[in-house]
Amino acid sequence: MGDKTADAEAIEAADKKYVMRPWPHPAGEPVIVARAKGCVVTDVHGKDYLDFTAGYFVNNAGHCHPRIAEAASKQVTEVLQVSGKHGTIPMVRLAERLMKLAPKPISKAFFSTGGSEANEIALKLARQYTKKPDIAYLENGYHGLTLGALEVTASEKYRESAGKPMGTENFAIPTAYCYRCKFGPHAECNVQCLDGVEEKLASRQTAAIIAEPIQAVGGLAPPQKWWDRLDQMRRKLGILLIADEIQTGLGRTGKMFAVEHYGLAPDIMTGGKGLCGGVGSLGLTSASDEVCRGFFGGTTPTNGGNAVSSAAGLALIDILYDEGLIENSAKMGRYFTEAAWAMKDPWIGDVRFTGLLGGIELVKNRDTKEVLGKAEIARVKDLLHEAGMLITVSGWHGNVLRLQPPLSVTSAQLDQFIAALRKTLTTVRGG
Ligand SMILES: Cc1ncc(COP(=O)(O)O)c(C=O)c1O
Repeated sequence: MGDKTADAEAIEAADKKYVMRPWPHPAGEPVIVARAKGCVVTDVHGKDYLDFTAGYFVNNAGHCHPRIAEAASKQVTEVLQVSGKHGTIPMVRLAERLMKLAPKPISKAFFSTGGSEANEIALKLARQYTKKPDIAYLENGYHGLTLGALEVTASEKYRESAGKPMGTENFAIPTAYCYRCKFGPHAECNVQCLDGVEEKLASRQTAAIIAEPIQAVGGLAPPQKWWDRLDQMRRKLGILLIADEIQTGLGRTGKMFAVEHYGLAPDIMTGGKGLCGGVGSLGLTSASDEVCRGFFGGTTPTNGGNAVSSAAGLALIDILYDEGLIENSAKMGRYFTEAAWAMKDPWIGDVRFTGLLGGIELVKNRDTKEVLGKAEIARVKDLLHEAGMLITVSGWHGNVLRLQPPLSVTSAQLDQFIAALRKTLTTVRGG
């Protein structure tokens, strides 16, 4: 328990009155955070939470890492922001660093202000290069909620939020949800879910496929052969691959970028979230020299590549390597997986972590895989919240506890969560 903020109630009242919050809020939310350090956030009442959202998957090195704070503070006194048409030293250095780390043939970076914007720029880039209008996206794929990004985000609920029909040029192709494979249990996967996709891609004016290498909604990691087959098809048809690494990038999956798990060589790669080290916001649209060559923009450079955010991003990358956080992500992902299965809880249907991307899928019945009811899921979340665990619920069916703490999380903190989850599931079941 930390210190209570003197005017905690007044702050919460002001939040209620003046802040627009267009989301449903379970009991105890929103949490107004007064301080945060590492994996722990402290609210205005002094209550500590273990943050299994990492500030919505942004603070990969943990909240308020001293080296990020130092880099940002130093930059604040030097130069803050200039138009993206010009540049600053940290912006150029961050581009250089990222492009040296990026999978080839990715070679040039364009900075914007967030993930959705980065993806919209990627769509423009793909269309400008190929001179084709259509974009394929994956079922269950999430690429942002601004109007352009929404057109390649699969969720009907989100698409309806636009208040207008989505364009007809983009179309969905099947994802790999192996736990719920439509083709039933089989000894060997022949990637039947991609049957007919080549014909579909060929029948349209397809410029690109946009996909997260591993889908963050539900932590769906396709098997190697799934990616191999899709990649082969799109290469044959001359279709670009846009890898959305906004949530999977920067060590989250136990590799710097998730494409490395599959040996993918995207033509365009996007980034965001943690790229700014939690200081301000950055979007990244990067591409091969070839694809960049014809890029004639159509995007404003007002706040792209903010100098302070870039300085913090550079510090973040150093920390990831110096503190072994990418390795820790892989190690803690394995630890979490083993600890979750070891609970032997009848409601745990699947545990899916690649590094620290993913979570636990809850079912009513392990054999039928019937999804756990909404009321029970809400109760699980509420009780975890009471126990000081900040999480989100995600997944195609809304039954996955998304558990993505900072990459610096310790096994002791994961043990704390597992203990809280064990108690919570037993209570909700009425045991
Ligand atoms: C994979 C992916 N793409 C795009 C976005 C959109 O990013 P932003 O919320 O910064 O617009 C997100 C955000 O959750 C994401 O996870």
